[in-house]
Parts: sequence; C-alpha cells; structure tokens
Amino acid sequence: MSSFYHDLAADAGTPYWLYDEAVLQRRLSNIAWLTEGPGLQPRFAMKACPATRVLAAMRSHGLWIDAVSGNEVLRARHAGFAGGNDPPQILFTSDAWRDNALAVIQQERILPNLGSPGMVEMLRQAGYRGPIALRVNPGFGHGHVNTCDTGGPSAKHGIWHEDLPAVAGAAAAAGLRVVMLHAHIGSGPQPAELLHNWQRLAAAFETLLPLFPEATAVNLGGGLPFNYRAAEGREAWLPDLRDLLVQIAGRLARAAGQAGLRVEIEPGRYLMAPVGTLVTRVLDVKRTRGDARGPGVTFVMVDAGFNDLLRPALYGAHHALQVLRGEADEPVTGEVAPVVVAGPLCEAGDVFTREANGLLAPRLLPCPQPGDLLLIHDVGAYGYAMSSTYNSFGPAPQFWRTSGGEVQMMSRRGTLADLLRLETG
Ligand SMILES: Cc1ncc(COP(=O)(O)O)c(C=O)c1O
Repeated sequence: MSSFYHDLAADAGTPYWLYDEAVLQRRLSNIAWLTEGPGLQPRFAMKACPATRVLAAMRSHGLWIDAVSGNEVLRARHAGFAGGNDPPQILFTSDAWRDNALAVIQQERILPNLGSPGMVEMLRQAGYRGPIALRVNPGFGHGHVNTCDTGGPSAKHGIWHEDLPAVAGAAAAAGLRVVMLHAHIGSGPQPAELLHNWQRLAAAFETLLPLFPEATAVNLGGGLPFNYRAAEGREAWLPDLRDLLVQIAGRLARAAGQAGLRVEIEPGRYLMAPVGTLVTRVLDVKRTRGDARGPGVTFVMVDAGFNDLLRPALYGAHHALQVLRGEADEPVTGEVAPVVVAGPLCEAGDVFTREANGLLAPRLLPCPQPGDLLLIHDVGAYGYAMSSTYNSFGPAPQFWRTSGGEVQMMSRRGTLADLLRLETG
C-alpha cells in the first residue's frame, strides 16, 4: 500500500497543498471537448489558481486567460501568454482598477474589460485609445452560494444593462472601440440553472449586439458548476451545455451579422477544484459538554486554518474530508461519529465544517486520532489563491504530482523572514 501522503508530510511538514496533473488533464480534455469547433474559445479564470505551473498547463492546451489585476496579467505574461489585443490572449476584467492596472493595460496592450461606466473616462484620461470590452450586468444571475451573487440588482459586478446605450456613446466619443461584450452570471448551485441563465444571456446579447457594430466576440463568463458533494466523473450535463453553446454561438453570430463572431467561456472552478488537496495533520481531539445553549461537540483540531483554506469560513463551502492513518496511508473506515474540524487560528470561525449562516455543521467521520492525516478535497480552485498570513502563519507549500507520479515542489513554505521582509520600520 502507498505511503505517499505520509512520506510527503514527513519531508515537507503539514499542512501542504497537492495538485494532481492527471486530474487536470481530465478536466482540460472535458473543456476541449466542450469548446471544440470554430469560433469557440475557452479562457482560464486565473484567480482560481494563479500558480505558474498551472498557467503553463492551461497555455499548452490552448486556453486563454481572464485576469483581474495588473499583477495577474503580469503573472500570465510570465507564464508565457502573449500580450497584445489581437488576439486578446489575456483579458483584464475588473470593476475597479488599482495599483499598476492602467499602466499594465497600456504597456502590455491588454484588452480591458470595463465593469463600471466611469472606467471609460478613466481610460480616456490615461491616454488609452485601443479596443475595449464591456462587462454587462444583465439583471439576473446567481453564484454558487447566495453571497456570491454575480448578476442582478444586488451584484456589484459589471455595467447595468440599461446603461449600455449611454456607455456605448461615451466609448465612441472617447475613441474606444467596443470589440467584446462580456457577462459572468455564475452557475447557481445546479447545472440546470446555468443552462437556463445562458439561454437568457444569449437573448440579452442578441438585443445588445446591434449597439456595438465593431464587436467581434462575446464572452459568456465562467461559473461551470462543480459538485463538491459528489465524486469527480464525467458530468451528465456536459453534452447539454455543449449543444447549448453551439446553438448560442449560431444565434449570436446571426445577431452580430458576422459568421466569424468568437464566443468565449472562462471557467475557473470547473478546471481546478478537483485538482487540489490540502493535507493537514490531526493534532488533538477534544469535547465540549452540552448545556441549555446546545449539545456538546467533538472538535478535531488540525494544523490548517482559514489562513490556508478560506472557503468554508467565508461562505460555508463544503469540502469532502478523508482520514488516513498509519504509515501506509490507510483510509480509516468503520464506525462514524459527528465531528467538527477546526484549525489553529484565534477565531471562533476557524472551522472547516460549517454552514453558510455560520452555524457548525458536524461531519460524520470515522473518529480521527492525533497523528492521522486529514485530507481536505477539491481545494484546487480558490484555495491557495485566497490564503493569507493571518496569525503570522507562513503560506503552506504547494506540490505538483505529475501524471507519472513524480512530486515536484511549486512553492516553499513561507517563513517569518518572508513576513518581515515587507516591513519598513
Ligand atoms: C469575470 C469572471 N469570470 C470567470 C469567473 C470564474 O468563475 P468559476 O470559477 O466559478 O468558473 C469569475 C469568478 O469569480 C469571474 O468573476
């Protein structure tokens, strides 16, 4: 039996992140199948996992990039993606520019995707005169949880659809050609919702395209669902999504009066979620006793916290958990009990098993013991990318397992010296 996880833990310490190339290859082949055919182009929403190694894999499979900051653009350039806007291998989607954003757009000639009407004037004042994309809030949409609303009146993203005629006029007056319309409306938790929303989105773009005669592309955003509660497999809805995408591409090409209209999608989570695992060590198991305020709880204390993986604390995200015991990576089976998995941070919310409303959600696990490894699955998207140094813990190292089984370090564990390096006095 393999002792892979334990050996790596013995060498590198815990917690650590592990990315599996073989899983990524399978996800990439699904996306290649989904977007096969002329005019269909996938981008990787790199915010999900911006590691150079991952970006290089995306590039070698012909994906382009959706970036959200000047530094993300430069990381994509570092990984080999071309600058320039013809074709726009890198799209820069933002609701508010900061730091080096405007400088990077100009120096690298990156296609900016404007998420706010005032950005037209900001670009004009900065001296930019190139092509632009407009991110539309079409008035509907739904993230994978309610706190991630991506379209509709409560969503901060994009330009409200009724403001588009005015923005079209302002862009023309500023000498900015609108070459792409974009929307990211999220998946909702169910695939059926994405199919329904994309149909509505296609109808919205059909109405909007005549306002933008220079548009050569439409981007439908990301938000392809990933089911965190079920094992990886070929999702039954993929063929439906493929049929719908081809149908939408035809509809939009007719609305634009251009057979060659490019239709893009930009998944992040779908590609990366199942690729990553966070490996933690169980340090202790302790119990509270019930009283009038509620029942007692068994806490499994592990060495990862929300400084490593924020999603459960941020929005009650569910991740599958697995306990491994002994040097041989044996999965623990047998009797299960409800436990709450918690980390080392000085925050009551540093808990990996909780609901979106913040309440504890004890998980049925074969009772872990100190020394066991606890694997937190499906953390490749918005895992390391959202981590912080809260409580002065250094970022955990990232490892890459090649399809051939070789393990390579992608980033080392952060140290106190790394934390102090930014201080100036
Ligand atoms: C503009 C845009 N595109 C793509 C994505 C990727 O979404 P997902 O990772 O759910 O596919 C996001 C997510 O926030 C986004 O804001």
